[in-house]
Amino acid sequence: MVREQKADENEVDDRWRLIERTMRKHGYQPSGLIEILHKLQEIYGYLERESLKKIATSLKVPLSNIYGVASFYHYFSLKPRGEHQCVVCLGTACYIKGSQAIVSELEKILEIKAGKTTPDKKVSLLSARCLGSCGLAPAGVFDGEVIANLSNDKAKKKIKEWFE
Ligand code: FES
Repeated sequence: MVREQKADENEVDDRWRLIERTMRKHGYQPSGLIEILHKLQEIYGYLERESLKKIATSLKVPLSNIYGVASFYHYFSLKPRGEHQCVVCLGTACYIKGSQAIVSELEKILEIKAGKTTPDKKVSLLSARCLGSCGLAPAGVFDGEVIANLSNDKAKKKIKEWFE
């Protein structure tokens, strides 16, 4: 039980580290907000509330302004779409190492296009431009767990677990 909780905390840390990296890249300036929100949505699958609060603090921007931006753009979602989120990186480093084939395979298995959620709301399949972990390419994030050297087999195994 304690070990499980620890693992969850580590996963959250992994994801948050990627957001931190993006904020750092923008010098913690509010002008980087849209890109930071894009990254948050790519990695979490939606704009998770606690992360929005942390971003507001880091950029010294009122949380209400962030919600204003988030609700203005249809691309952003403030609620999780599917019960499970599966993000595959299609940035250059991951693409070169075959991540497009993984997305295509998952599209076939789940019978949805990337960016969509299965009709039963079980799984959302998302793609990212770069997760900021190119050394792990091809990389993905499955329910918050950053997966290095993603392969068709690894991706299919994860999906299968969700349907068991
Ligand atoms: S291109 Fe995939 S993590 Fe950077």
